[in-house]
Amino acid sequence: MMPELEYQSGFRNHFASEALPGALPEGQNSPQRCAYGLYAEQLTGSAFTAPRHHNLRSWLYRIRPSVAQSAYRPLNSGGLATSPLVKPAADPNQMRWDPAPLPQAPTDFINGLTTIAVNGDAATQTGCGVHVYACNKSMTERFFYNADGEFLIVPQLGTLLFRTELGTLEAGNGEIVVIPRGIKFQVRLVDGHDSARGYICENYGSPLELPGLGPIGANGLANPRDFLSPVAAYEDLHGNFELVAKFSGRLWTTSLDHSPLDVVAWHGNYAPYKYDLANFNTINTVSFDHPDPSIFTVLTSASDTEGMANVDFVIFPPRWMVAEKTFRPPYFHRNLMSEFMGLIHGEYDAKAEGFTPGGASLHNCMSPHGPDASTFEKASEAKLAPQYQEATLAFMFESRYVFHPTEQALEADFRQRNYVDVWQGLKSHFNPGQR
Ligand SMILES: [Fe+2]
Repeated sequence: MMPELEYQSGFRNHFASEALPGALPEGQNSPQRCAYGLYAEQLTGSAFTAPRHHNLRSWLYRIRPSVAQSAYRPLNSGGLATSPLVKPAADPNQMRWDPAPLPQAPTDFINGLTTIAVNGDAATQTGCGVHVYACNKSMTERFFYNADGEFLIVPQLGTLLFRTELGTLEAGNGEIVVIPRGIKFQVRLVDGHDSARGYICENYGSPLELPGLGPIGANGLANPRDFLSPVAAYEDLHGNFELVAKFSGRLWTTSLDHSPLDVVAWHGNYAPYKYDLANFNTINTVSFDHPDPSIFTVLTSASDTEGMANVDFVIFPPRWMVAEKTFRPPYFHRNLMSEFMGLIHGEYDAKAEGFTPGGASLHNCMSPHGPDASTFEKASEAKLAPQYQEATLAFMFESRYVFHPTEQALEADFRQRNYVDVWQGLKSHFNPGQR
């Protein structure tokens, strides 16, 4: 009964979707008896009393309620880590990694997760975890949900099918998927893709939302109608199924005698969604200098301090470079905010080499960074004609909290231990006799 991929458009609209006609109750949420013998179950993604514009909940009408599962048992957490880390110490060094290697042995999405860095504290719902995934096997009898945070998934290699309680989404390179906290799902490789790799921001804090636009006005950046949520889809399968939960930094496993993808109808504004980054309406200077990179924010998770994100998801998409009298690549900088970067495809304009698709870099609070020596020399001499920055799509998870790299990330074979050398060729051009 899983239909073809079908989506509903809008950012956190109050959607209503049913896979059987009349499965949704009319005029109420929890009738004495639901149509088709279904159970009603509410899933909330906010406190009940959250302000209306932050209040998130969906009503699910399912074949069995979620309590129909075994007790939770601890499971080996593999490469997954959660903040806070006991060791090693947080590290101010600028870091960079090559793409994580693809697995040789059969590895599904859950087993293929490797945590690179974490910050904040999952138990107090602050900060985030940054993971990469590399997998070559579909989840079939296995499902997952995350009580510690929502997953923002950034595919780099391969196309994935996300089969969720609320319906199915597909995403590949250039798209993102967000699976909110608590929603059960499984990940399959789409036919023709024998392996997949990408990045994940596990947001422990406030759910991601669209940034305010201020003087930009009503339009621009990511437009709400380009966000797509799935329609209701269910399967009525009996057998041996496993549901893995991430809870308080550990994995747990439960058994079910049926597929948990048994939601026949749902309504509400708490649902997974996808977004094609090509729809991002990029705004930048048409005179000189750079706006700060916050102009490229796709989604933001607020912290309890206004204007200071728990984590921002920022992209550097294809765009025209037209600034006059300006050093056009990103400037040298030191920031309060800490930055994890990845490259989805193409080249990034601040680095001549060493930062490849699937790779990553980490620039922590106040650690200096910017263009490498050869990019600086080249851009300082470049002819400033309008230029289209074509084949490029980089992104950043930017957070107010210092990223704490994991031991496995520090010791990984694919970490570039000489990254800081990219700035060693920056020589003094100072000449007090010539302005
Ligand atoms: Fe930066």
